[in-house]
Amino acid sequence: MRAVDIIIKKRDGLALTQTEIDFFIQSYVKGEIPDYQAAAFLMAVYFQGMKDAESADLTLSMANSGEVLDLSDAISGIVVDKHSTGGVGDKVSLIVGPMVAACGVPVGKMSGRGLGFTGGTLDKLESIPGFQVALTTEAFKHQLREIGVVIAGQSANLAPADGKFYALRDVTGTVPSLPLIASSIMSKKIAGGAHKIVLDVKVGTGAFMKDLASARALSALMVKIGALVGREVVCLLSDMNQPLGVAVGNNLEVQEAVRTLQGQGPTDLTEHCLVVAAHMLVLAGKFSTLVQAKTHLAEKLAKGEFFPKLTEMVEWQKGDVSYLEDLSRFPVASIQHEIRAEADGWVSWMDALAVGEAAVLLGAGRAKKTDPVDHSVGLLVHAKVGESVTKGSLLLTLLANEESRLQEALAKLTGHIQISDRQVAELPLFYE
Ligand code: URA
Repeated sequence: MRAVDIIIKKRDGLALTQTEIDFFIQSYVKGEIPDYQAAAFLMAVYFQGMKDAESADLTLSMANSGEVLDLSDAISGIVVDKHSTGGVGDKVSLIVGPMVAACGVPVGKMSGRGLGFTGGTLDKLESIPGFQVALTTEAFKHQLREIGVVIAGQSANLAPADGKFYALRDVTGTVPSLPLIASSIMSKKIAGGAHKIVLDVKVGTGAFMKDLASARALSALMVKIGALVGREVVCLLSDMNQPLGVAVGNNLEVQEAVRTLQGQGPTDLTEHCLVVAAHMLVLAGKFSTLVQAKTHLAEKLAKGEFFPKLTEMVEWQKGDVSYLEDLSRFPVASIQHEIRAEADGWVSWMDALAVGEAAVLLGAGRAKKTDPVDHSVGLLVHAKVGESVTKGSLLLTLLANEESRLQEALAKLTGHIQISDRQVAELPLFYE
């Protein structure tokens, strides 16, 4: 079998067999297929798509490219996980992981890095000095057993095919593909061993799924793949037309996650986390209704009772918790630029895509696979769609370390923040 023949077959729109998919994935992971052929394969899938059976085969092959954790020896009960399809300002995992674990339901999570204009949980966590995302299987299980929460990356052992594809997709324009997103997410979830999974499927300009129809199709595919391997999957379709919360950028988002766990988070982010965490608790059988779960979570969150679980996790993964205890320790970008309202009115547009792309231009994301990220840069979104503002109200703060990058980011935002002189409705947090 030759990689080039598989690429040609997909390029020409034909369905690949399980053997062909397995050959390609396993050879790529072994280093026998170079990145340039993998990039061509990804582009062929991007343009030609895959049948559901191919997507399922791709997922299983990627999950089986490393070890598939069986957590039953580490944990006797149900292990839950959540995953977002990617958004702007989406720091939900950093918050709900500790929340759910502190309620007695173990969360073993394998996360990803920034992808395109979206941020990645691993990049955010790495803004905490010392934080280790690469854990051995033993360390992953041990931490899950001892403290009930772990957020790690694909190690050499777990879903390595996704780790390699993910980095390549980020820089080859092949992210927004339904089979590639579904297989990326579900391979990590299967390899991570969680029994039940809540998927936060983002819809809107700052998501890979721009409309409800494609979000529903992605959800259906991921539920189907979950069923194939005996994992229960629940999908929530949530808004990503504007950033979630205030902060966009790595250490800025960690700081916002800390504040939220201390009961002082922005309203939209807090509500979003309560809903996601409530679904996880119900799925795990901890509560019988979402209302009960949410009420319990809201009471504890308001009192800051979940914050110690985050510090415990960070400590276990060798991060310096003094940064969480004193947020002023995080490095601050050297340039701060404010954008203010030019007229009275209502915010009618705060385009999540433009904000996400501006964050990447500032250095919070990558243009090339090997690019480092700048943990201190990003944006603070002070006004949300539907909010009334007066002339001079603060809309956005950009945090940059280079003047040229700031100018590029400002150019990117031009026309993407709008004020209307007519009242505008708020955007919903969830659609379905
Ligand atoms: N999150 C992932 O893990 N993979 C994707 O492809 C998109 C979002």
